Formats: sequence, structure tokens, C-alpha cells
Amino acid sequence: MAHDGNRADLVVVGAGVAGLTAAIHAAELGLSVIVATKGSRRTPGSDTSTRYAQGGIAVVDPTDPADSVDAHLADTLAAGAGHTDPLAARSILADGPDAVAALIAWGARFDAHLDGTLLRTREGGHSVRRIIHAGGDATGAEVERSLWEALRPHMVSGRVGVRAETMVIAVATDPEGRAVGVTARDGTGRAVTIHAPSVLLATGGIGQIYAATTNPEGSMGDGVALALRAGAAVADLEFVQFHPTMLYTAGARGRRTLISEAVRGEGARLVDAAGVSITAGVHPLGDLAPRDVVAHAVHSAMTASARSCMYLDARDVPDVAQRFPTVTAGVRAIGLDPRTDLIPIVPGAHYLCGGVVTGERGDTTVDGLFAAGEVARTGLHGANRLASNSLLEGLVMGRRVAQAAADRAGVPTAPVGCSPRFDAEMLTRAARCDRTVLQDAMSAGAGVTRDAAGLAAVADLVAGAPVRPLRSFADVADAAATMVAGAVVAAALHRDESRGCHRRADRPLTDPVSRLDWARIGDPDAATPGIDGMHWVAASPVESPVVA
Ligand code: SIN
Repeated sequence: MAHDGNRADLVVVGAGVAGLTAAIHAAELGLSVIVATKGSRRTPGSDTSTRYAQGGIAVVDPTDPADSVDAHLADTLAAGAGHTDPLAARSILADGPDAVAALIAWGARFDAHLDGTLLRTREGGHSVRRIIHAGGDATGAEVERSLWEALRPHMVSGRVGVRAETMVIAVATDPEGRAVGVTARDGTGRAVTIHAPSVLLATGGIGQIYAATTNPEGSMGDGVALALRAGAAVADLEFVQFHPTMLYTAGARGRRTLISEAVRGEGARLVDAAGVSITAGVHPLGDLAPRDVVAHAVHSAMTASARSCMYLDARDVPDVAQRFPTVTAGVRAIGLDPRTDLIPIVPGAHYLCGGVVTGERGDTTVDGLFAAGEVARTGLHGANRLASNSLLEGLVMGRRVAQAAADRAGVPTAPVGCSPRFDAEMLTRAARCDRTVLQDAMSAGAGVTRDAAGLAAVADLVAGAPVRPLRSFADVADAAATMVAGAVVAAALHRDESRGCHRRADRPLTDPVSRLDWARIGDPDAATPGIDGMHWVAASPVESPVVA
């Protein structure tokens, strides 16, 4: 069946790997789909993190006797610092090879040996070379290209519609609280309602709530804010992953060039200004330790030496410019050359390990509302995501959501009303901080290391944010960022231990057993009083082994 412009079986919010994968599979299953994206009409995927992914896709080669799903799971658990859901993780990783085979069948071209077998690299936390890549370090761009190519016939047939330059403002829910569509604004500011029995949030991450990040401009936390407003539970928001090697230039803000971990996988070393290793003695895997460990080592070296950056020495990486063209272009843009110069780096906000709580098929705690990709908390990433598990998760979960949506097709969607927890004014006015003030506060108070005083300062800023009109997409994004920043610091205050990417200078120890708490905003059933609007509604220990 074709969509009718405002009604479909599935509405997908976001056009990165998870959203497009869901849209293609759903169309293949015979569903009508509308994809709503803030991206431009000409290049609707231009503002997704998928496009900028470098390292690759972590996936087991089933024919490789040196690798297995068990080994991939063990690495994922070790990186996740005792907070990973082992069942969810095993199931997602085990579905990886099929998900990648589907992507290749849709036309994705990965770097390969002359005999056609895929080249594989290594990144932090991986015990073997299992990461496939495209264009050297342009994996995300190839994933995006192939997904749009695969979507095109479904757009031509009218089964899938893409509404570009469209900002979703609220998940529409019926009086029973079920998701029945979305309310959005189009590029002219006109309000649009799209009706669908299944709504997928695939909106990416939150990196842009920090002053400098590897994420594109659109990563303002829209999806987490939409879910919170719809009454869905979120978890693990305190686990914001900082990538150890974001290209440094003094005073730079916004999206910065990522220097892929794969550069270290091919032999580059992290050093201080004197050329001394930063990670020696920190972890048995050295520069290829899990990302939280390496980011913290870089941050500590900077603090101890009072320097603004550390360095990556990639001069001995064979054919570095050919193997890593994206990295090389970024480094050359600041007047350096990775073949001859040390690359200045700092840790940068990169990935939200938590997000909207989802079950096995991407289902959230709100009936009819799904989440997949970075916006979701599936349990795969625990307290610190293993490198290159994210594209894999998007591919696997996008497909599962499509199957779940197929099971719901035909569920009636009317009547439509906005979430009963929020009045219509939410669509036109909301609390929002000035963007740069919020970003600076998050970088200062909720960075690689944090403490109660710094987190409370951000919480105070958010609590004092004035309610202002929402006149533009930027205003709506700032309102989302304000809400999400409040949620991140509330979660970070609530977790009074250090674990994975959440390092509390004032709580340096890790509890023997990790605790999983879900949070909702203003939940009337909350068992525990909330902080700044977040109410903790469930608490359970995570039965996840800590693997050294
Ligand atoms: C990288 O290439 O270092 C980033 C990969 C990832 O975030 O998983």
C-alpha cells in the first residue's frame, strides 16, 4: 500500500542507518512508510552521524576460526564495564552477519582483498580484527549511499515517502497513551500531523549539547526529548562516550574531525608533547584499550601537564594518507600532514550509550513507539560502547522494528491528540537555554570526569531556563537540548559511582554490582522522588559479568 502523505503504517523520525534500514525492510514487508527528517531535500542524510562514521562495522566473519559471536560478546561485555545486558547483546551481535549480508545485497561496497574477502581492521577493545570498512575510513558515507539507493525504488513506487526539512515536535498519543503518529513542522513552519500505528524514533545522538563534538549539527537530543515528552522511560543517559581522538584546534566549537580508532588499529600511538606513550601501564591493551579507558588516559595526561591537547603519532602507519583519506583531509585542513606531523587530539563528545529504553524489537514503554540506533538503550552498550558496534546495532534493530511494525499494521490510529502529559503550548513555547551557554556548561560540568558540584551547576542552569517561543527549528532543537542536558546531569547525579564513561571525581569507586534505573519525567507512579523532573521508576541490578 502507498502512503497518502499524512498517513502510513510506519513513520520513521530520522534518516540515519537505523531509520533507513527500518524503512527499507518495512517497505519490503509491504508496509507504507513516511520518513521525516530535518535534512535538506537535496541531501536528506547530510545531518546524520551515520554519514560521518569512519572506522566501520564490527561484525563476526562466520568463516573465521579465530572469531565468534562469543568472542565479540566477550569484548562487548568487557568494554561495557559490567552494565551490558548480556542477552540483548548476544542476540544483536548474533544477528550481525545477516544484517550486513542484507546491506551488501542492497549494494554496499566494502573494502576487500583481490579475492573478494572483506578487509578487516581493529579498534579499541576488540581482541581480533573484525571491523569491516569502506572507502578506507568513509564507512558511514557508503552505508548511507547504499541505503538511499535501496530506498529509491520504494520511493518511486509510492510505498515510502520522505518528508525532508521536517522537524518532529511531538509524538502524538491517543487517550490511552498509545503512540498514533507525530506532530511536526515543515520547512515553512506549517504544522503537520502524520498518522501511523507505529512510530520509530531514529534520531541519533546528543553530541551537540557539548561545545565540541564529533557529531553533526543535528545531534541535539531531539529523540530523547520526544520520548520523554511522550512519557517513555529512558536509562543510562549518564554514559556519554567521549572519543579519545577528536582533532584539536584551539577554541574550535561544533563538529570536529574524528580521528578513527582504526588509525591506532593500524599502528598509530598516543603520545604526549615529548613523544612518551600516554597509555603505557594503564591497560593491557594499551592504545587499543576500551574507549572510556583511553579517553580518560588522554584527559588525565592533559590535566597533569596543563596542556590543551595530546598527540597521535601516525607517521609509521603504512600508506596512512591512502588508507585514511577522511582523516588525512581533516588533518590537512588545519595545515598538518599525518605522514610527517603529530596530530593534535582531545577527547570529544561522541556517542550516547543510553537512551530510550527498548526491548528486543525496539519497543519502548509507550505502546506503538519504537526507538533504534543511537537514541535507543537496548542494553548492548552498557556503560561504554565497544567501537563500531553502533552501525551494526542500527542495521539489526532497524530490521527488527520493521518486523514489529508489520505486526501492528492496521491498528487504528485515530483519534489523534498530543501526549496527554503535555499541553498544546509545548508545541509553541518551551524552556530553552541559549545554545552556546548550555554547550559550555555541559563541557565544563558533565565531561570526561564530573562531580556533584559541576553537575549541579548544569542542573541549575537548566532549571532556570526561561520559557520562550519556539519560532524556528533551531529553537525547537534548543528546547530539546535543554531538556536532555537536564536529564543527562540528573542521571549523572543519580549514579553515585564511577563506571565506564561515567567518571565521578567525587565518587571514584565502582560498585560491585551495577544498577539499572529507568527514569521518566513527572511519572505519577515513580517509586523514588526525582531530581529536576526525572523520576526513577525501576531499579534492578544488572547481571553482567565484568570481564577484565
Ligand atoms: C572510530 O572510527 O573511531 C569511531 C567508530 C565508532 O564510534 O564506533
